[in-house]
Amino acid sequence: MADRAGAPTSPDGAVTREIAGVPFTDLAAMAGEVWPQIEQEYRACLLAGAYIGGPAVTAFERSWADYCGAGHAVGLASGTDALELCLIAMGLGPGDEVIVPANTFIATAAAVVRAGATPRFADVSEDTLLMTSRTLAEAITPRTRAVIVVHLYGQLPDMTSLVATARRAGIAVIEDAAQAHGAEWDGRRAGSFGEAACFSFYPAKNLGAFGDAGAVVTSRPELADRIRSLANHGRSGGSAHYEHDYIGTNSRLDALHAIALSGKLARLDTWTKRRIALASAYQELLGRREFSDRGLRLTATAPLARHVYHLFVVRVPDRDGVRAELALRGVETGVHYPVPCHRQPPLRRFAERPLPAAEQAAGEILSLPMFPHMTDRQVDYVCDALAGALRATAVRPEAAGVQ
Ligand SMILES: Cc1ncc(COP(=O)(O)O)c(C=O)c1O
Repeated sequence: MADRAGAPTSPDGAVTREIAGVPFTDLAAMAGEVWPQIEQEYRACLLAGAYIGGPAVTAFERSWADYCGAGHAVGLASGTDALELCLIAMGLGPGDEVIVPANTFIATAAAVVRAGATPRFADVSEDTLLMTSRTLAEAITPRTRAVIVVHLYGQLPDMTSLVATARRAGIAVIEDAAQAHGAEWDGRRAGSFGEAACFSFYPAKNLGAFGDAGAVVTSRPELADRIRSLANHGRSGGSAHYEHDYIGTNSRLDALHAIALSGKLARLDTWTKRRIALASAYQELLGRREFSDRGLRLTATAPLARHVYHLFVVRVPDRDGVRAELALRGVETGVHYPVPCHRQPPLRRFAERPLPAAEQAAGEILSLPMFPHMTDRQVDYVCDALAGALRATAVRPEAAGVQ
């Protein structure tokens, strides 16, 4: 079911013809599409009362590890837990520095602090807004033990050079792939580069559960076992219910979420292709002179990257003004993220130096609507609204002090 360019229709088969605005995303459309296939299994699990772990979780973990090209997947309660448990399981803690990009969601850096280690912030590329091997190298000190590379917005940075830089420095690579399900660098999937990769299945992610969920994937079996144990109160392997090897926590993946995730995984590639097609449509329309003349910049996609466009991020002058004008025109937008991590109050004590690219970008970035059920007409509508918003907020020469 698709409109003329492949947009899936709504569950009742209707394609919106009249547009009064565009939402930022549409989670109900994804749920509606997947529900007929998962309803029976969902109901059976619900009525059987088997909610924690079990075959649905094991099946999803196997498919997700295979999808990512990793040996093992451990389903968890959130992407935040995935990061924290991964760091703890890798033995990172007090006295260790872990490098994170300044442009990311706070969970990346907060996990380092919660594990007892010290986050050290790296700047990002002006073009892709991702960490580079240069910004990584600048942040490495003798105390650095690991780097969390974040595939922000759905794009992997240059993993060839980042992994090489980390290897030369003798530090571990962890991927924060919370926004990058199915993304690739040079033909290799997110999740297959680092010692471990952390995924979020928060409902709005490209692969999202019907609530909070997450996973770590890794090809190191002992690391997978330790994370699984830590997420289950540090229980020993096997059937020892009240024998504990570690002080752990409760961060298990629920069976109902696993059923939803398996159902959605069967659609992930179709949904990703649609996101990529929508991004091309945006790039074509927003690449026109009328936009560049008004200061709009697209975020770059590297030629070797398969960007899965969790978010479609542009940069505009007077971002907050443009956002307000878009809201007046019914277009919902987001900002990812308005304050760089090292400027957030609980993390400021770790900010040691200016990070100009991340700081500059934070005031300009704007995330436009992007979701698999978005139609071509909605893309046109957003771009028309954006042209209007840029005109409405353009700085008049006299206001800018130009004579
Ligand atoms: C880059 C990044 N890392 C980590 C997380 C945390 O994931 P969760 O919300 O599942 O805890 C998110 C989620 O928003 C994220 O975008």
